[in-house]
Amino acid sequence: ETIYLEDYQPPAWLISHTELRFELEEEQTLVRAQLRIQANPAVADKRKPLELFGDEGMELSRLCIDGQILEASDYQREAGCLRINNVPESFTLECVTRLLPHENTALEGLYKSDGMFCTQCEAEGFRRITFFPDRPDVMSIFRTTLVADKARYPVLLSNGNPVDTGEDGEGRHWVTWDDPWPKPSYLFALVAGDLALLEDHYTTTSGREVALRIYAERKDLDKLDYAMQSLKNAMRWDEEVYGREYDLDIYMIVAVDFFNMGAMENKGLNIFNTSCVLAHPRTTTDQGFQRVEGVVAHEYFHNWSGNRVTCRDWFQLSLKEGFTVFRDAEFSADMNSRTVKRIEDVTLLRTAQFAEDAGPMAHPVRPESYMEISNFYTLTVYEKGAEVVRMLHTLLGAELFRKGSDLYFERHDGQAVTTDDFVAAMEQVSGRDLSQFKRWYSQAGTPRLQVHDDYDPQSGEYCLTVRQSCPPSPGQDHKQPYQLPLSVGLLAEDGTELYTGMLELTEEEQQFRFDNIARRPVPSLLRGFSAPVKLEYDYTDEQLLMLLRHDSDGFNRWDAGQRLCIRLLQEQMLRYRDGLAMSCSEALVIAWRQLLTDESLDPAMVAQCLRLPSEAQLGELAERIDVTAIHEAREFMRKALAQALEQEWLQAYQRCDTGDDYTADAEAIGRRSLKNLALSYLMAAGREPWLELARQQYEQSDNMTDQLAALTLVAHSEFRETADELLQAFYQQWQHESLVMNQWLAVQASDPTEGALQRVNSLAQHPVFDARNPNKLRSLIGAFCGQNLASFHAEDGSGYVWLADWILTLDRQNPQVASRLLTPLTRWKRYDQGRAAQMQAQLQRMMDTAELSADVYEVVSKSLV
Ligand code: ARG
Ligand code: ZN
Repeated sequence: ETIYLEDYQPPAWLISHTELRFELEEEQTLVRAQLRIQANPAVADKRKPLELFGDEGMELSRLCIDGQILEASDYQREAGCLRINNVPESFTLECVTRLLPHENTALEGLYKSDGMFCTQCEAEGFRRITFFPDRPDVMSIFRTTLVADKARYPVLLSNGNPVDTGEDGEGRHWVTWDDPWPKPSYLFALVAGDLALLEDHYTTTSGREVALRIYAERKDLDKLDYAMQSLKNAMRWDEEVYGREYDLDIYMIVAVDFFNMGAMENKGLNIFNTSCVLAHPRTTTDQGFQRVEGVVAHEYFHNWSGNRVTCRDWFQLSLKEGFTVFRDAEFSADMNSRTVKRIEDVTLLRTAQFAEDAGPMAHPVRPESYMEISNFYTLTVYEKGAEVVRMLHTLLGAELFRKGSDLYFERHDGQAVTTDDFVAAMEQVSGRDLSQFKRWYSQAGTPRLQVHDDYDPQSGEYCLTVRQSCPPSPGQDHKQPYQLPLSVGLLAEDGTELYTGMLELTEEEQQFRFDNIARRPVPSLLRGFSAPVKLEYDYTDEQLLMLLRHDSDGFNRWDAGQRLCIRLLQEQMLRYRDGLAMSCSEALVIAWRQLLTDESLDPAMVAQCLRLPSEAQLGELAERIDVTAIHEAREFMRKALAQALEQEWLQAYQRCDTGDDYTADAEAIGRRSLKNLALSYLMAAGREPWLELARQQYEQSDNMTDQLAALTLVAHSEFRETADELLQAFYQQWQHESLVMNQWLAVQASDPTEGALQRVNSLAQHPVFDARNPNKLRSLIGAFCGQNLASFHAEDGSGYVWLADWILTLDRQNPQVASRLLTPLTRWKRYDQGRAAQMQAQLQRMMDTAELSADVYEVVSKSLV
């Protein structure tokens, strides 16, 4: 069943107050809900029946209106919906449901994670707890009582403030929580468990004292400090940059090991995947630290962009997600290196979002229809949505953008609104007409910009011609031109900047003229990645090398180097296919040597510049993906650059190996990233002394970044004996750290050497693997299918069968996770005939299976079209 945006109707019934009582027991949970319901005065038709959502499998054991028990004939229950006819204008509905949280493997609604109770209600999990108008435009004031065994569940949490507590006899106790802010049901949460607590406090600018509490299992209490510091930084930043303060007396975060996504912004009670909140130098990599900082901030920022102002319906998901991702990206940029953060985000966009935009599940930032909303928590809604907000920021400038966001928050506080409302606030403060801009919300696909230039030495006039187009996507054959900011610099040969500015595109083709240009300039285009497009300009190698050296825009300096690498790699792919010997460009070696030996450069930037584009990104750029050619060409280049610069890699390694104590600041992270990149090239050079160096680093490092980097390099090398030895040692050392074991699984699943499928198969039997835990599934299946491309795409199709088998098993257990892990198969049309046919056959096998979840059915059926 497909749901359409154009069918939106305001709710016929409103719920002013929701009172919940949870009797949490080992074998079952009873939920008593009392809803104060009123007919929506804004809806004319007063004769509408009351319709509530409620999961099909949920047991309803009592239903009353104003104290009167309803007989079975007074209501109808069918397919996830409860209908009651002839209800009064205003009344109280009481409803008791019986849940089985310990059997809830889908991890939506109320479930158990490692012995504690927790919830995940976004998007539609609340309907697995009780019957409710489970849609974000119905906002209600919640009061929640939790009753549980005191010894097993000493900590009982929900949204808002604790207002009452007591003992219930038989060792049970209860706590009542009151949340004064009306909220949609998807922001409801509860937690019950035996949890340890890190407590701190924060004073807002206007003087509110906020208790900050981060809860986790006792063994993880030493891994909460970084999240706490990140939270305080985020609270300060949101006050300074957006003028937004926190609005309750308590802010809580709870870490749980079983979680479908990264984290959830439930009002006053965020629930986090342990992987996004726990951090300790010994067990967490630099990447892990930065993820914790970013996700903690993201969920905190949702308190305004999401909770105080929420979404009218799920088609508007990017209203909160795109805006919040933009906010957390700017926060991380301010806390660390702005350019490096931008490079990382653009790399993700170009690799994964562009692929999504070109695939069968392509959809606009504001989708027009869906079967299962969980399938639309996508890179397009999140990352492209953030780029759309960034473009508004660029077009309006920081000051007007802030005025627009102030107006948006003020005007819509307490409301459930749309992306149109967001843009309308930006229009109002800027006096601009942004109607064309809104095509970014309604059109799918990645736009293409083709740039040509002309120079007239006589008149000194330089002219840029820009053509924009956008390929068709499902249901959208023709696209209208976009409005977008094109940030440009014109450089003289020696790097002098002749022009800097922002061009605005609105037409399919436009020309921009520049006067008084003494010599033909080199254009630096789309600086800072000012719009989420594919930019084409026919650069010469020399021009790219010049930009790599001189561009004042750090992002474009990096991008010039990437463009050059991509071109050279594509040439080698062709040579490989034609059976010709591959070669590495001397000019590239010289340029890299220069970057590698210039000690005045930022190591983090150097590391970014000396990293070859991933196999996944090269695949995204290919007309038809030749898995083997990509892998062979990239490996050849890596080895060639490793050997040509062996001494320089070693020097860089030694220079960055400062022996300082671990800190997670941008500078130290940058040094480690160059050091470990250097080590990876040394290992690619393939000589014994470098294996010894890696082993030494493995044994002597006091932090997970260096230890895991060394382990990965050895484990993926041809030195199998040492590989097995270190993998075994790592397991012995860390077997009791679940998150570290995820890394151990992922390292092996992404090992491209011979026999990968066999290895993942035996890991699936290993005691540290647990098929019910999404983190474990992502570490094993996700890493094999997403990072070990040559193995997953083995010509005999064995990888595809393996993935399809997993999907079919997991779909019965956890449809959300099954649907996500399925993504690699959906791209079948991009591969050679042999592989495409085998991938398609596996999709068809799934399609022919009875009783697929809506999640998997939607993705499989759309992929087969
Ligand atoms: N709102 C959360 C975030 O981005 C994501 C939760 C999505 N969960 C889900 N089951 N679809 O911060
Ligand atoms: Zn979010």
